[in-house]
Amino acid sequence: MSDSGVIWALCRPGFEADAGQELVSRAAEAGAYGFFVPEAAGWVRFELPGQSAEPVMRAIPLTGLVFVRDWYVGFGEAVPLPKEDRVGAVLEAVKDSGISAPYGRVDVHVPQEGTEDALPRFARKWTSPLAKALRGAGILDEEPDSTAATPGLEILLPDFSRAWLAQRVPELSSVFPEGVPRLRMPGTAPSRSTLKLEEALHRFFTPQARDRLLRHGMTAVDLGAAPGGWTWQLVQRGLAVTAVDNGPMDEALMASGLVNHRTEDAFSWRPARPVDWLVCDIVDRPARVVELMAEWIEGRLCRMAVFNLKLPMKQRWDCWQAYRTRLEESIAASGADLGVTAAQLYHDREEITCCVAPLTGSR
Ligand SMILES: C[S@@+](CC[C@H](N)C(=O)[O-])C[C@H]1O[C@@H](n2cnc3c(N)ncnc32)[C@H](O)[C@@H]1O
Repeated sequence: MSDSGVIWALCRPGFEADAGQELVSRAAEAGAYGFFVPEAAGWVRFELPGQSAEPVMRAIPLTGLVFVRDWYVGFGEAVPLPKEDRVGAVLEAVKDSGISAPYGRVDVHVPQEGTEDALPRFARKWTSPLAKALRGAGILDEEPDSTAATPGLEILLPDFSRAWLAQRVPELSSVFPEGVPRLRMPGTAPSRSTLKLEEALHRFFTPQARDRLLRHGMTAVDLGAAPGGWTWQLVQRGLAVTAVDNGPMDEALMASGLVNHRTEDAFSWRPARPVDWLVCDIVDRPARVVELMAEWIEGRLCRMAVFNLKLPMKQRWDCWQAYRTRLEESIAASGADLGVTAAQLYHDREEITCCVAPLTGSR
């Protein structure tokens, strides 16, 4: 396949400028220069004139990006889709693009917002005849691959009249479809917030690291814990949790015997002994939350942390740079071998979720 110098990036709708700015800055750090176009809700086209996309994606891995959930190598301009033969148009365009490798699967993506109501349904139905035609032409493997391990042909469908073609590179793209782990709301969890911590643990750690870093016998503090969705996640993994919040905790969760509820101010309360984990879901000024987290890390009151930061409406990327610097200073002062990462999760709205943890085992 000829490298086109285009990266298609997926992000939360409304955060296209933040994702684009992040790509421009991070690519520049790696010596690559590009510009971005927000093409649709949650889609950013990052152009690297005269450069190749894949080396840039390798230099600034997805797991180090905050606003970009998933990304693909793009090829070519938008393909016009005539009503009478959209499949044929895609087939011809794929052949013309000169790609060689057969793909393990084909996926059709539609923007998450702002499309005609019928488009998502059309995309779901269209995938099957499209896959059949691609298989017939030898572009798709005979045996469809349901895993994320083989290259995927990604069709980005902004409306009924055109499509962009892209390639999913297994080792560079997300292991989750469109970068979002599919999670079910657990029946006994006290709040939907529980999914945010669960998503964070999937996003930041491999399954093996999750088992190693969160296990029976460990201790945690949950600041701003009520009613207990985050505490519930930790208790499920056998951790003993001190839940700090003036609000009431879920009764069934308290009955687990693993939760100690302290009705105190989370900004001034400190544990008598260091704990393994600090988690914090308090909605407050981000600079204030960062300072609190930095104090815990610097003082080695916790070994690892996951917390939310509500970012301002503007200049979110710049703000995050300042917060990241402060957190890195606190890690350096602690002398611990830790790294800081952050991501805007599917379950985040205006906020991002940050993680301070050992670098080994992190995704
Ligand atoms: C978004 S809710 C937390 C939801 C929780 N993570 C869950 O999964 O159920 C934020 C919580 O922070 C608590 N909170 C806000 N400021 C606080 C403070 N200074 N000290 C303790 N708790 C605080 C609120 O009472 C509220 O329960």
